[in-house]
Amino acid sequence: MPDTYILGIESSCDETAAAVVRSGEELISNVVYSQIATHYPYGGVVPELASREHLRAIVPVVRKALEDAGKTYDSIDAIAVTQGPGLAGSLLVGLSYAKGLAYAKDKPLIAVNHLEGHIHAVLLEARQNGRHELEFPVLALVVSGGHTHLYLAERRGSGWTYRNIGHTRDDAAGEAFDKVAKLLELGYPGGPVIDFLAQHGNRNAVKFPFAQIKHRDRNPQNRHAADELRTDFSYSGIKTAVLRYVEVNSMAESIRQRREMLKNIAKPKPEDYLAHCDRRTLDLVASFQSAVANDLVDKTLGAAIDHGAATLIVSGGVAANSELRRTFEAHAAQEGLPVLFPSRKLSTDNAAMIAAAAYPRYLTNEFAPPDISSDAALRLG
Ligand code: KG4
Ligand code: ZN
Repeated sequence: MPDTYILGIESSCDETAAAVVRSGEELISNVVYSQIATHYPYGGVVPELASREHLRAIVPVVRKALEDAGKTYDSIDAIAVTQGPGLAGSLLVGLSYAKGLAYAKDKPLIAVNHLEGHIHAVLLEARQNGRHELEFPVLALVVSGGHTHLYLAERRGSGWTYRNIGHTRDDAAGEAFDKVAKLLELGYPGGPVIDFLAQHGNRNAVKFPFAQIKHRDRNPQNRHAADELRTDFSYSGIKTAVLRYVEVNSMAESIRQRREMLKNIAKPKPEDYLAHCDRRTLDLVASFQSAVANDLVDKTLGAAIDHGAATLIVSGGVAANSELRRTFEAHAAQEGLPVLFPSRKLSTDNAAMIAAAAYPRYLTNEFAPPDISSDAALRLG
């Protein structure tokens, strides 16, 4: 099989990204234009602003990815693009551009589910490091700002099939990081700052209990999985518990002071937040992070045992969290389960994962029809 160069394009949320990947196994270029600065003042992604930024960034970002790879529009073999899930307006920018490019340059277009992309970020890097074979079934936890989903993945020929066996019933884990950071005036996105600050706090200071949400699947539409054990997550409760803790411990004044002090710094760094956090705040974020990490690990390992998984994959923005990685590695080792993470740069949204996920489809000629449209609520499995 000759080398295949796929140009990936990703615009599902607040990152405009393009990348070139060779044959699903080598990252050739990877450009991510982050809109954090645009959304930062609002403490969250503003969908209208996100679409506008994607429109401005998409052409230069794709050009740069091709240039870094030493490729041209003509010398790539196919174009892969995120079809969903994500923000409707943001998805539309990437998909319309990719469609136009595919048509103009007469290249095949491959539509990719963003969640499958996160899983393939791990597979791409595993192959890049010489690991081509995994033991199946694989249990993948995709944990980001929009998702906390568990998938059982199997290999079928050169492609993959997925079965969803758990999801969050309310907030995603990354959303909880972002909301707790917003409440405590720790900027946006919350995950990286909390990750940093938690190293300076006592993770046992505050107890945040989690419930087990395991149940049999009674959905009659779920033909192949009737009566299957499902493991669900829930992260809106801990956000409320943090709010209660802030109220009971009269932390409003210290939060207000932090806002005042930081408003003069254009782009505060984690160290700037640390300089304006008291012990109670540091202990609170350390306890919050530890509770979320333990819950994610407990539930995922429980599901792995229930379903006889042989390999674990953890991906999505929250997979960058250092405590989550440490806890997963320690506990999975006890169960004798290999656990694979993406590098930090491929944990959060990027287009390399989209180009990598498209490769098996390229091999089986699964190309998108010319009238394909984006789907903000696209499901996987
Ligand atoms: O995968 P991603 O870039 O976008 C979505 O598809 O949502 O994930 C972004 C999410 C945000 O909620 C962010 O706070 C979280 O990932 N995140 C982290 C860390 N880095 C990013 N959460 C915890 N610890 C981190 N180090
Ligand atoms: Zn994502």
